[in-house]
Parts: sequence; structure tokens; C-alpha cells
Amino acid sequence: MKKLLCVLLTVILVATSAIPVFAADNAQWDAIWESDDTKAGLMMFVGSDETERNFTWYTETENTPVVSVSKNALLIDADEFKGTTEKASDGDFVNHVTVTGLEYSTTYYYKATSGDYESAVYSFTTSAADEFKAVYMTDIHISDNSEENPDSLYNTSLGLNNALEDALAREEDIDLLISAGDQASDGLEAEYKAFTASPLLKTMSVATTIGNHDRKGVEYKTFTNLPNEYEEAKVSSYIGDNYWYVKGDVLFLMVDTNNASGEDHAAFVAKAVSANPDVKWKVLVAHHDLYSGRIPHRESENRLIRLMWAPIVDEYGIDLVLLGHSHFYTVSNVLYNSKTVAPLASEMIDPAGTIYMVSCSINRPREEDELGLNEKLIGFDYLTLEPTYNILTCNEDSITVESYEVGADEAFNSFTITKTTKDGGHEYKEFSIVTMFNNLVRKFGTIYAIFNNIGRYSDLKEDGFDVNFFDCLLGK
Ligand SMILES: [Fe+2]
Ligand SMILES: [Fe+2]
Repeated sequence: MKKLLCVLLTVILVATSAIPVFAADNAQWDAIWESDDTKAGLMMFVGSDETERNFTWYTETENTPVVSVSKNALLIDADEFKGTTEKASDGDFVNHVTVTGLEYSTTYYYKATSGDYESAVYSFTTSAADEFKAVYMTDIHISDNSEENPDSLYNTSLGLNNALEDALAREEDIDLLISAGDQASDGLEAEYKAFTASPLLKTMSVATTIGNHDRKGVEYKTFTNLPNEYEEAKVSSYIGDNYWYVKGDVLFLMVDTNNASGEDHAAFVAKAVSANPDVKWKVLVAHHDLYSGRIPHRESENRLIRLMWAPIVDEYGIDLVLLGHSHFYTVSNVLYNSKTVAPLASEMIDPAGTIYMVSCSINRPREEDELGLNEKLIGFDYLTLEPTYNILTCNEDSITVESYEVGADEAFNSFTITKTTKDGGHEYKEFSIVTMFNNLVRKFGTIYAIFNNIGRYSDLKEDGFDVNFFDCLLGK
């Protein structure tokens, strides 16, 4: 009887649209924008693997946060997961809850509660054990420049929603947003709350990296709730650490390229890879592009980041690197040791190197006619003033990337990497002199990172943030 009642009420609830769906027009977006869940900034981040999800939301008062999860929409007999609360930078409290024990290919319903706050009921479906679809975007740039443009938060948040809506209309099974940094333009709480507004984000997990713009404020650290953070780093970026998660047969290495501490980056990747020896694919996500450039005056910065990261990518046989920062779309050839070892092709079987990809910005697309300084390493580039997104189809044997302009009918680029064995074509050739040089670079990077943090401390102080020098020094 209880089950029958449950099914009946679920049908009524879904039929009356109690669970938000697409924001199709401005009136609907206005309602979403004014909703309690947008004000609370409710967000579902990735967990350590598909059996977990990490939640964040803001409240004005401090109460024990709870996420209730059930396989039925009425949350009858829901499992309740309790979390922790801490102070956010703007005076609110931020609530973090981890949900565990999820099953593959299963639809769940959930709501978040804390004190007087109770969210709407949302749902998400976990992916299968060995395949999934994700959308990769970068430089979403939710912006709060309300003095010049009072609607900036509203419009940039809607821009993200429109891109998600386009992607999900094409592939309804997408259940992960990979965001390669610059989620916010000034790292402010209001921007991160606006980042969460799309109800589509309530149906998928989100994995972010730290962009240079996220580092302009201090809120990113409390806003995010991420798994397997590398907290033992000697030097971090103050607003977060590298972290990893596994989805399907892919190990995602989410790294902070604002932080130059090479010793920590190498140790993080070694630790994450050794913790997941059976996972076939490795995808690294970072903010700063290594090769594509397109902005010549940034080449010195790119060169330093290449010096730090390319040897790590080569050593661990990373299959795909997803980047941002330049706001120009480029896909590299197959690279090893910063050289082309094979051209980019629509089908690549066991490539003996890595594909590095940069996508356009969602809210700040730009067009320029200069390709920067590494043109010979780029297999495909695409200039557009439209926001773009990329759909990743990942399974045991292959990763396919399809790139779209928002609103377009067809993909403007696509490629597939296939691996016939766990290592595919990756083969790391170690030379002791090169290893010595790389270790020196990493040590130098770690020292540089401390000085860089001192610079960030003075910038943050100048911008009125209440930060502690010693906390900033090692980025803790
Ligand atoms: Fe950006
Ligand atoms: Fe950036």
C-alpha cells in the first residue's frame, strides 16, 4: 500500500512540475533567479566516485545541514546525510554534505535542509560503471560588475543555463559538468551563488578547477566541496587544492595551475594514479593553456606552465588535457615532450602522446586573428564569438569529444581517442639528466609559489579581504 501510494504521488508530483526542468523563457528564468535555491546557491559537486556526491549551499544561520536522498520523489524513507557548516567570506554560513552509497544507473531524488531553509526536490541519475557523458566548458565567467551593468549576474548566469540547456537538449544523458576554471570573474560569493542558478545543474555533478579569476577573491574555497583534495601539499593556492575523482573508467586529475609548486603537483599526480591502478583513462583538467596561446604576450607564462606540466603529463601517460584561460578554441596534435608525434585526426588509435584542448569562454567569447607562438603544435583551431561547449562520451575503449557552438545544429569539431590496452600508445622514456632538470624546475616552482602567495596576500588585502599573512604564505 505504501509503495502504491508512493508511485501515485510521484506521478502527481512530476505531472505538476514540482521538479524544475528547463528554463525556456525569461519569465521562467525570473522565477528561478528569485527562488530560494538560487539565493542559497545549492550545488552538487562530484564525489570521490560515482557512489558519492558532495553538496554545498549557503544559509544565514548556522544549523546542522542535511541532504535527504531517496529513490522516490516524495522522499519516503529517505536516507539522511548530515554535514558541517563554516563561515563564508560575506558573512553567510556555508553548508557541506557528502552523500555516499549511491548505486550505478539509478535515479535519485534529493532535497537539502538547514534550519528554516528547505530546497525544492531535485533528481539526478547516476551513470553506469563503465560509461558516461559529460559536458566540458571553461571560463564561464559569472560576473558581478553591478555598477556598470546591474544585470550582469542575471545575464551571465542565464548564459551558462542556455549553454547547459543546449547541451542537454542534444544529449540528455549528460550528468557531469567539467569546468576548467574562471567560474567567477572576481571570486565573489554572489558570483558563485549565481553560478549555481540553473536548475539543470541540480541534475548533474560539477567538477571545477581554480582559474586566475577565481583567485581574485577568497570564496572559491568555501563554495566548493570536492573529494580527495591533496591537503598534504607544501604550498597551495590559498583557495583550494588539487583533487581527483573517478567516473566510469576515467581518473580525472583536477589541478590548480595558479600554484607553481611543482613538487606538490608531481606528488599529487603520483598519489592519485597509484590510488587508482586499474582505471584505464587519465584526463587532466587545469585552467591555464599550455600550447595554444593565441595571445602572444602570454607566451612567457605558457612556457613556464609547459615546463612544469608537460613532463608530468608525459610521465603518467595522460590521455587528454582540458584547459581554458585564453578563451580561444584549439586542439593540439598528439604531443609528447612538447613536440608533435602524430597529427590530430578524427580517429586516433593508441596515440603515443597527449591531446591538449582549450575551449572558448561561455560569457566572454573573443575573436582574434593571431594564433600565438605555437601554431605548429595545433591540429585544429576555431574562431567564434559564440559560446562553445564540448560533449565527452567516455567508455572503456574510447573517449569522443564533440564541440558545439550554442544554438548550432552540427558539431564544428570532433575526435575520438581509442585505446586497445590500458597504456595504449603511451611509453615514457626516462633519462636521468632530464629527470634531474625536471626535479630542479619543480623545486624552483615550489619556492616561486611562496613568493606568488605573498603577492596574492597583498592584492587581497588591498581589495579589502580579511586574510591572514601566514595562512596565505603556504596557501593553507
Ligand atoms: Fe577567463
Ligand atoms: Fe583565466
